[in-house]
Amino acid sequence: MTPELKQFITTYSRRVNQLLERALPARIPGGERLLDAMSYSLLGAGKRVRPILVYASAEAVNGDMQAALVDACACAVECMHAYSLIHDDLPAMDDDDLRRGEPTCHIAFDEATAILAGDALQCLAFETLLNVDAPASQVVAVARELGRASGATGMVVGQAIDLGAVDTSPSMDLLEQMHVHKTGALIEAAVIMGAVASGIEERKTLRALRTFAKAVGLSFQVQDDILDVTSDTASLGKRTGADQERNKPTYVSLLGLDEAKRKAQQLHEEAIDALAGFGSKAGILRDLSAYIVQRSA
Ligand code: IPE
Ligand code: IPE
Ligand code: MG
Ligand code: MG
Ligand code: MG
Repeated sequence: MTPELKQFITTYSRRVNQLLERALPARIPGGERLLDAMSYSLLGAGKRVRPILVYASAEAVNGDMQAALVDACACAVECMHAYSLIHDDLPAMDDDDLRRGEPTCHIAFDEATAILAGDALQCLAFETLLNVDAPASQVVAVARELGRASGATGMVVGQAIDLGAVDTSPSMDLLEQMHVHKTGALIEAAVIMGAVASGIEERKTLRALRTFAKAVGLSFQVQDDILDVTSDTASLGKRTGADQERNKPTYVSLLGLDEAKRKAQQLHEEAIDALAGFGSKAGILRDLSAYIVQRSA
């Protein structure tokens, strides 16, 4: 990791953690357990890659990284991500008991509370955006982007494809669709939201950022598949070998480890090419793409 990226991650993960703490709703009598579960899953030791992509994208387009809508986008993508993880770990889905080095939400609390915490975090993501005093066209555009990336055209359909693919050997095309949707879509949204919240409307710029983000989004999940095989539970904070145990098709199970690593590298190169028209302000975005395929957790 470059020293610049290290510094950027330190600064902006601290910033988003403070914002996330403040974004949680006030306690309502009787709702303490729900709020505790939301807080547990939202504030746990995640890498905050999606909010960091929001800030890095804002920087790449010379945006104001302290702007209220940029902060709100960073919070909103992490709320959405935290919800997706809670539901992903549920017994009806991946049935995992460890996340970010701690018991998963439904183990630490109970299944019904975990479902509700996920539901509430999804709403909180949109509330966070809609509460910002910024030009309405920008607020609408980022909310639209987040909605499209999260529901039946994004993360949720990816999860549906994932569940349908258990115990099967899907085509490479279907596997790619699964990854592009379940993980790629939210990463793509993070990058686009950072630019849109910075006032960018120019098609050419947004198209280049989208090409970059699509490649990074897919490479993120290819690397997640790789780490499930090559890493260990302590470093990853979630159980390794889980995909094979549940008979989940992955880039590693379909292509083999070496080919999966080559695919991740190729996607990183595509991502870098997409930013050819950007100057040094996109340095952190470039570093993030490299980090995503080199990371060990
Ligand atoms: C894990 O995402 C789930 C996937 C989409 C692969 P992260 O690896 O970003 O998880 P945290 O937020 O750092 O825990
Ligand atoms: C993550 O896929 C997809 C979402 C959370 C949307 P995985 O099921 O591979 O993620 P991990 O490995 O449990 O983090
Ligand atoms: Mg899953
Ligand atoms: Mg999982
Ligand atoms: Mg995984």
